[in-house]
Amino acid sequence: MCDEVVFIPRNQEISPEGVRKNYDDWATSYDQVYAELDYKAPQFCAETLTETFAAADRSQIRILDVAAGTGLVGEELHKMGFTNMDAVDCSQKMLDEAKVKNIYGRLICDFVGPEQLDMEKDTYDAIVCCGGFATGLLNEDCFPELIRVVKPGGIICITMRELFLHTLEAYKDKLEPAMARLEQEGLWERLSRDVIPDFYPNKSGVRFVFRVL
Ligand SMILES: C[S@@+](CC[C@H](N)C(=O)[O-])C[C@H]1O[C@@H](n2cnc3c(N)ncnc32)[C@H](O)[C@@H]1O
Repeated sequence: MCDEVVFIPRNQEISPEGVRKNYDDWATSYDQVYAELDYKAPQFCAETLTETFAAADRSQIRILDVAAGTGLVGEELHKMGFTNMDAVDCSQKMLDEAKVKNIYGRLICDFVGPEQLDMEKDTYDAIVCCGGFATGLLNEDCFPELIRVVKPGGIICITMRELFLHTLEAYKDKLEPAMARLEQEGLWERLSRDVIPDFYPNKSGVRFVFRVL
């Protein structure tokens, strides 16, 4: 068994269409590969919402799973009673795998970036994004759009490999400064930033939680 799945070699230039094709090609084997890896990240991401919405009726919390893939985070959320969820991902084949799990309402195939998504503003109580920030995938240019579709007071939870913050050119000295800028501009406030050991087998992750203002 490999200790890490490498979909796209680190810092390799890859076009959005290349990313889409990569995940289209992996879609049918994705869940099996990650099950063998004992990938706990989706569970960590989902637990954030149980903590955040501890007193709420979970079935009423409207969630958008960004870079949802085959729905591993959605499955965890669903087990915890969150049943009002949509998914967005650029790979239709990944979304096809998610669809059979019957846990999402809308399954939207689109690139998450600076462009407006087919969603009204202030739609969601929460966004979860697990593993969407990695080589060639999402960038900080999508933050304003994520903020736009979340209701004021809503939550955005982003989990990713910690190392990527420091090793990927796209994120190094860019991702966290962009987060801070948006906070200074009064668009969101960071509620927490914590490091999660064993986010990925033997590799730590980082979880950011923001409240949209
Ligand atoms: C590592 S997978 C994570 C999937 C899922 N969240 C999980 O934890 O298993 C990354 C996903 O991001 C999607 N993706 C990559 N870049 C994207 C973009 N710009 N917009 C939307 N989805 C994107 C890929 O198609 C893939 O399904």
